[in-house]
Amino acid sequence: MNDFILNNLNKLKKYKIPNPEIDLRILLNYSSNLKNEIIFSNFDINQINIEKFNAMLNRRIANEPISKIINKKSFWKDDFYVNQFVLDPRPETEGIIEESKKIFNNKIANFKILDIGTGSGAIAISLAREFKNANIFAIDISEDAIKVANKNIEDKNLNHQIKLKKINFDYIDDKFDLIVSNPPYLTKKEINNISYEIRNFEPLIALSGGEDGLDFYREFADKISNKMKSNGYLILEIGADQYNICREIFSNSGLKFEKKSQDLQKKDRIMVFSKL
Ligand SMILES: C[S@@+](CC[C@H](N)C(=O)[O-])C[C@H]1O[C@@H](n2cnc3c(N)ncnc32)[C@H](O)[C@@H]1O
Repeated sequence: MNDFILNNLNKLKKYKIPNPEIDLRILLNYSSNLKNEIIFSNFDINQINIEKFNAMLNRRIANEPISKIINKKSFWKDDFYVNQFVLDPRPETEGIIEESKKIFNNKIANFKILDIGTGSGAIAISLAREFKNANIFAIDISEDAIKVANKNIEDKNLNHQIKLKKINFDYIDDKFDLIVSNPPYLTKKEINNISYEIRNFEPLIALSGGEDGLDFYREFADKISNKMKSNGYLILEIGADQYNICREIFSNSGLKFEKKSQDLQKKDRIMVFSKL
């Protein structure tokens, strides 16, 4: 193997970076001057902008997630711009899109969707891909997150379908067919024990759900049904151990619990409610 590759692979290994081969390949490709993909066997050092490569490698060695270094994370059918002001969209959140597709089709007239806590805009944009006739309202309380979502919506030319606003759910004055949310739900204890990568490179406002992680659900459970049309649905992501307590919190919410779905680790992660 080429010396440059070997030396840098060893650096990543020395700092115990997981998946060093994969990360090195990504960093080489992101510091390449050419368009064709670099694999170790065809590597030519003249293709690389060494200064750019070293800067990115040093960030990775300092445990910055690769997604934040290359400003890119895949979710559902798209790649999204991400930075330290938004949560990287996670695979378990794709359950929200899957459940939405089971309930709705593209033929509903005046289909209105609300995404509470849009972050990078991943859920809103993925729903816009699936429901071409839907009008989507995406909100967040973080100004920095709104900027990221706006960039993603513009990059994908979806401004005609998605309206974005920095606003708290309390100020929503409309009714929707579908409300979706992946709110912050980590407990204080989980936040205290969280990995270095998440603590330092993902925003606390996207993670922390208060002492027991349930602040968002408690605050909004009985306010959501007022913002739903008569045949409306709510699809929510929850923390891995929050299903029973969330059933309880939503028991007097004016919503009927329909079903739950699990992530790949067989943890309950998505709850579906309809308007009573
Ligand atoms: C867990 S992140 C989810 C981001 C994105 N929807 C996703 O699934 O990848 C939660 C987001 O909710 C926002 N948020 C927190 N409390 C909120 C509130 N009361 N109203 C609206 N957004 C809120 C945070 O700023 C953050 O961007």
